Order: sequence, then C-alpha cells, then structure tokens
Amino acid sequence: MIAASRQSAKRGEVRPVRTQAALYDEIDLELSWSEQELPERERTKHVHRLHPYLGKFVPQLAEVFLRRYASSGQLVWDPFAGSGTTLVEANAFGARAAGCDLSAFNCLLMRAKTGAYEPAALLADVVWLSEGEEGKKSRPGGSYLRRWYAPRSLAELLSFRERIEGTTYPELWQVVLSRSARSARLARHDDLDFPAEPATGEYFCHKHRRVCRPVGEADKFLRRYVRDAVQRVQEFAEVRSPGPVDILHGDARCVDPPGPVDLVLTSPPYPGLIDYHEQHAYAYELLGLERRDSEEIGRGVKGYCEAIATVLARSRRALRRGGKVVVVVNDRRGLYDGILAAAGLRLEERLLRHVNRRTGRRKGEYYEEVLIATP
Ligand SMILES: C[S@@+](CC[C@H](N)C(=O)[O-])C[C@H]1O[C@@H](n2cnc3c(N)ncnc32)[C@H](O)[C@@H]1O
Repeated sequence: MIAASRQSAKRGEVRPVRTQAALYDEIDLELSWSEQELPERERTKHVHRLHPYLGKFVPQLAEVFLRRYASSGQLVWDPFAGSGTTLVEANAFGARAAGCDLSAFNCLLMRAKTGAYEPAALLADVVWLSEGEEGKKSRPGGSYLRRWYAPRSLAELLSFRERIEGTTYPELWQVVLSRSARSARLARHDDLDFPAEPATGEYFCHKHRRVCRPVGEADKFLRRYVRDAVQRVQEFAEVRSPGPVDILHGDARCVDPPGPVDLVLTSPPYPGLIDYHEQHAYAYELLGLERRDSEEIGRGVKGYCEAIATVLARSRRALRRGGKVVVVVNDRRGLYDGILAAAGLRLEERLLRHVNRRTGRRKGEYYEEVLIATP
C-alpha cells in the first residue's frame, strides 16, 4: 500500500491524507490493466521473459509512454535500465534506445535481449551445446556454488559453462545458464527471490501446496531454457528494428546518454525494496561477474534523494527541447516531489496505477505512480 499521507521533501508541505476510496478514485484505469485485458503471456512476451528479474515494469506501460511522447528514430534513455524493458520496447517501437545500469548481470541480460541473431548460427549453437557430456571436464565450483547446488546440478552447470566458449552467441547462453542455475539452486520453490538457506531435505512447499524435495539436477532446466531462449529471440526478431541499442555499464550518476534525448523513461531503485545484485548472486558467482554493491542506489534511505536527483538532473541536461521525463515509482515515502524539484524538473502529471501482483507468495494490493515531468 502506498502511504496515506505524504510530505514534500523540499518544502515540508503535507499532502492530504488519502482514504482507500480516494485512492481508488485516483487510479488511472487505462494504465491499470486487469488480468483479462493483459494476460501473463502478453506481459512476458518474447524476450521479456528471457530471465526472471524482480522489479521490472510491464512492457505495455513502456509502450503507452513511447506512443505518447516519442517518435520513430528519436532517442529514448533509461538511466536505470534494469532488465531492459524500456530498451526492448523502444527498439520495437522504432526509436533509438540507450540505457545504463550498474549491475554487470543486468547489462549482460539487456545485450542478450536486444541482440541480433542469425538463425543458422543460433541453430549451430544449440547443436553444439546439446552435444555436451554430463559433468565432463567440469572443475569444482567455489564455496557459494558448492553450498547452493547438489553435486550433480553443479557438474551439469559447469559443463554447460565450458561449452559456451565454443558458441557464436555466448552471452545468450550465459543468460540461459544463469536462468537454469536459478531454477537448480537448493532453494525452496516458494522462496526463489532471496532464499536465505539452502534446503537440504523435504519441506512443505507453499507454492505447490505439497511436500517438495530440493532440486538435484540442472540438465532438464538447461535443455528447456535453451529451447525457450531460441523461441523468444526469434519472436523478438519479428518486431525488432535495426536501430542502435546502447547499453552502458556504470553508475548512472556519472554516465551520460550517447546523444540528445527525446524521452527519458525509467523506474529508479527504491530504498529498502530490492537488492539488485543479491537477486542474481548465483549469476555473479557462475559467470565471474564483478559486483558493485556499494554503488547501488537504494541500499538505504541516506543519500537516496540526492543520488536520484543527480541522475535525473543529468538526464534533464541531455533532454531536447520539448522532451519529457517519465518516472515509474512506488513512492510510498513521498520523496519524489522533492527529488524532481532538486533535479530541476517540474511535475506535469502524476498518474496512479493499480498493479496486480501474482508472483511468489507476495499478496495484497500494490500501486505504482507514473510521474511525468519537464525541465
Ligand atoms: C527498478 S529497477 C529498473 C527496472 C527496469 N525498469 C526494468 O523494467 O527492468 C532499478 C535498476 O537500477 C539499477 N541501479 C541501482 N543503482 C544504480 C546506479 N548507481 N547506477 C545505475 N543503475 C543503478 C539497479 O541495478 C536496477 O536494475
């Protein structure tokens, strides 16, 4: 639930308390799709479900604002690009897309999603990968991997990792490896987002409502996700435009877009909600990626407003005349009036969106705000 009363960080004004009824009155129904209007297969179409990622917005939200504020060939910038929803949709829309993220894994995922794949080479990769022999040549993993995987699962994952070296599209298969590793962890099925302890024996699973056992192999996931990845990149190829997609790996406080921007479309991290490195800890271990946890914005409230304002001010300076800044956020602490003001942005519109959450065991109502601002 978003907070009932809000305090502007800048001017100390208290906005009126929102009752539940007032909250419902404010909801923008055009952006609050029901399950029937926007079924899961649409929300997770083509490359959007190449890999699980906690904290992304639905592609249809990006589509609405691209149609409203951008034109084909224009530059769309997302300084907190995450799993690349803005970039994928901006590309399909025909715009030039650019984004930045601090997380090396997210950048890898975005490159895999937005890359161009030649069908014959893709098929040759699949054949090459499927010829791997179980556990052959695999080296023992580090202590994290030994703790979180059954020996057979780990051997299969490491064997696949070795075979990736001989492929044409290693980054796509690294994403498949990571997705399989996520599924093959010794995590409870009902606690896949941030599992605290490996499951060592049978347990009552709240997701499947029965007794489940920890996963003991990885090959079944590898086979399934290789096929799924091929299908997804091929589906995206049908709507993919040839325009450039620039993916910049770094701290958005110090990274500029590659040219004058027509639309900023982003959802910043929010304090205390999601640890963006930790959610893919297995990928960092398995792929040997560098973690930059200490630079992650939103690890605490301290310094948060200043950090986001710095990023948005950088985006504002790159904005062409008439350009818009669209920020999707669950502003439960009421920080964004102050942040926008500090970034030199003027709030034009604040839309409230009702999000239906279905993932895992999280229940209850959830709202998101879309802030539309201009310099
Ligand atoms: C809410 S998520 C964005 C999700 C995205 N809209 C999507 O649909 O996938 C926020 C992102 O900000 C990134 N982030 C956190 N601190 C950052 C920093 N200092 N510089 C750049 N990105 C950062 C996180 O890694 C995370 O991917």
